[in-house]
Amino acid sequence: MQNTDKANKYAANRFSIAPMLDWTDRHCRYFHRLLTNETLLYTEMVTTGAIIHGKGDFLAYNEEEHPVALQLGGSNPQDLATCAKLAAERGYDEINLNVGCPSDRVQNGRFGACLMAEPQLVADCVAAMRDVVDIPVTVKTRIGIDDQDSYEFLTDFVSIVSEKGGCDQFTIHARKAWLSGLSPKENREIPPLDYPRAYQLKKDFAHLNIAVNGGVKTLGDSLSHLEHVDGVMVGREAYQNPYLLAEVDQQIFGLDKPIKKRSQVVKEMYPYIEAQLSKGAYLGHITRHMIGLFQAMPGARQWRRYISENAHKPGAGIEVVEAALAKIPQELDV
Ligand SMILES: Cc1cc2nc3c(=O)[nH]c(=O)nc-3n(C[C@H](O)[C@H](O)[C@H](O)COP(=O)(O)O)c2cc1C
Repeated sequence: MQNTDKANKYAANRFSIAPMLDWTDRHCRYFHRLLTNETLLYTEMVTTGAIIHGKGDFLAYNEEEHPVALQLGGSNPQDLATCAKLAAERGYDEINLNVGCPSDRVQNGRFGACLMAEPQLVADCVAAMRDVVDIPVTVKTRIGIDDQDSYEFLTDFVSIVSEKGGCDQFTIHARKAWLSGLSPKENREIPPLDYPRAYQLKKDFAHLNIAVNGGVKTLGDSLSHLEHVDGVMVGREAYQNPYLLAEVDQQIFGLDKPIKKRSQVVKEMYPYIEAQLSKGAYLGHITRHMIGLFQAMPGARQWRRYISENAHKPGAGIEVVEAALAKIPQELDV
């Protein structure tokens, strides 16, 4: 792992990019890694069913992505153990169990946020994975589900999963989830954020590593949270405004190193893009993650538009990215 404090197995967890289905794929993670060396990157949720029965390699990632955590979706301890073992053999740095996703599809599979109501099963799942891997097994959860939203409900969950399952790292998306009536998107917006609840959890479980997630938009916000908890996980803002990541190593991890310009990051993507294209990837599948890089800069709209209009065309190659980059006034790329 490339983190600053190798003695602490959760050092990289101080700042992480959230698992986001369809967003944090391996192209995205490669791009994010160019902006920050230290941040812990999460994969999208991968279900045990996909890994065990699916066609294709659901565990593929680029070596450059370390430290990288695999997020698993599932609730069968044996299946989770099988997948965790495979992931550890492939070199993942952490396994995270999804106990926060409220989608119907996930509930039908009896995993995700609905597992908050079954702490003993979550403990069994974590224990089964910990039995077969040496890397950390962590849990990402909400502060409650439906009407089960008292602080005691959350502390009971954390007590059981930590004591019986041996989990010592929790990422808390600081809002509850409604299991019916709200879409996953609404469930990321409507239930109010309650950071003090996550802070209290850290006070009451000082021996656990607690990270907070939800609504974090700046590194200043992140530093404020870090006065109360061990880690901050950022989702949508990191994806939509990735240049936020350019100062994470300096501001959050305290490293003394130059800040990359946006154009430098684009150019550092070229060898990766060319290698991927030569393996049959579509340009648009890579560049879609880069669209927000120039957010709020002169030329940002032209960059976005040029890529959106051209990257999906058959045979589109690196020249599309070069031409899009030329839309940005270079003297303003600071
Ligand atoms: C497009 C999208 C996909 C997501 N997929 C997952 C997922 O696979 N697993 C998960 O635990 N959370 C998922 N989430 C939730 C995020 O990890 C995060 O908890 C949530 O967006 C709140 O953080 P934010 O306000 O910083 O975005 C997803 C969020 C978005 C926007």
